[in-house]
Amino acid sequence: MRVCIAGGKGGREHALGWLFDRFGHDVVVAPGNPRIPWATLGDPLDVDADLFVLGDDASVVSGLGDRLRAKGRLVFGPNADGGQLEGSKAWMKALLVEAGVPTARYGSFTELEPAVQFLKSLPGPYVVKTDYLAEGKGVLVTADLGEAIADAGAKLAGGAIVVEEAMAGPEVSLFALCDGERFARLPVCQDHKRVGDGDTGPNTGGMGAYAPVPFVGDDVLDRAYDECVGRTLAGLRDRGIDYRGVLYTSVMLTGEGPKVIEHNVRFGDPECQALVPLFASDPYELFAGAAAGHLTAEPVMSHDACVVVSLAAEGYPAAPRKGDPVEGLAAAANLEGVEVFAAGLDAEGRTAGGRVVHVSATARSLPAAHALAYEAVRRISWPGMHYRTDIAAQALEGVTP
Ligand code: AMP
Ligand code: GLY
Repeated sequence: MRVCIAGGKGGREHALGWLFDRFGHDVVVAPGNPRIPWATLGDPLDVDADLFVLGDDASVVSGLGDRLRAKGRLVFGPNADGGQLEGSKAWMKALLVEAGVPTARYGSFTELEPAVQFLKSLPGPYVVKTDYLAEGKGVLVTADLGEAIADAGAKLAGGAIVVEEAMAGPEVSLFALCDGERFARLPVCQDHKRVGDGDTGPNTGGMGAYAPVPFVGDDVLDRAYDECVGRTLAGLRDRGIDYRGVLYTSVMLTGEGPKVIEHNVRFGDPECQALVPLFASDPYELFAGAAAGHLTAEPVMSHDACVVVSLAAEGYPAAPRKGDPVEGLAAAANLEGVEVFAAGLDAEGRTAGGRVVHVSATARSLPAAHALAYEAVRRISWPGMHYRTDIAAQALEGVTP
């Protein structure tokens, strides 16, 4: 079949294309980037395909799903109505509260004074978020009330904000393939959002991920899917939203049980790069069935583990430097079990974005995948390249992060 990965130009879209190519489908990635083999660099609306899989959040939020469906296309990915889950945190939080989904206490604001009053009423630490799309980079978590107030003021200059109480506990990423009614689960992943080792420094789009996550028990997972995912989908249905596509739920495993940090309306990046190697059978029926509203197949996943290390450009996340020549990609990809997914690379193989490549390593066990990933990373270099050296480290040490 012909499958189009529609919208987006990063490592996630490369990985989705690679997944369908691996099972013999004819793949198009639109637009993609110059280092994705199947990229058109053009508009997905110009592509003819049997199935469209939406890639990035901006495309979903701006209604690419609606436009493709209006042309009679089969689309795995929600319409703009479902996109509000990610496009507006205030909308998402209101839906969670109405649907009885556990999440952090919050307030949404368009003016500073009530936001300050709300912040002062919280015990701290504090969380300040933009209510507009900020690609995972619009969140401050701080114990310092003064810093929270200053950040609220700065973010209000760009639009509405959401203020939350901070939750504590390990974070995991859940991926549900939804057909509007039912959903199928993919293996649980963990991302590493801070730029530095030991979860230090600013938040990023994600510096590395692995799957599956050994420390999450089945009972906790069942509860998280039921209370966080199932109830959200029911809430969407109650609002007349026929949500077909992946629902990516960031969950914090708190002392009071799993709670939603946020929902996203597309795959995680780099979690997607850790999931696609684990598919043990052709995912076409699964995705096409969900897109058609008849999810019948279950995902068939291998028992392997996958570790993804994201390699970032000098200055990421604040101001990534472009134009640095990247060496060693082919040598890394030559290792068995390793795929290098292109994110911020130009046609000449120079840095052209914040996260430049994602090194994805799959092996029989988490320790083996971890060792393989870093062996591959050591083959790649450019001036100013940086990455985390502790992806999956706590899980490997048996520590629940
Ligand atoms: P988000 O973009 O909403 O996923 O937030 C980015 C990161 O900020 C999350 O991965 C969490 O680490 C952190 N975060 C967001 N909301 C909260 C919260 N209410 N409590 C604690 N940490 C949070
Ligand atoms: N991995 C974080 C994200 O995709 O938003």
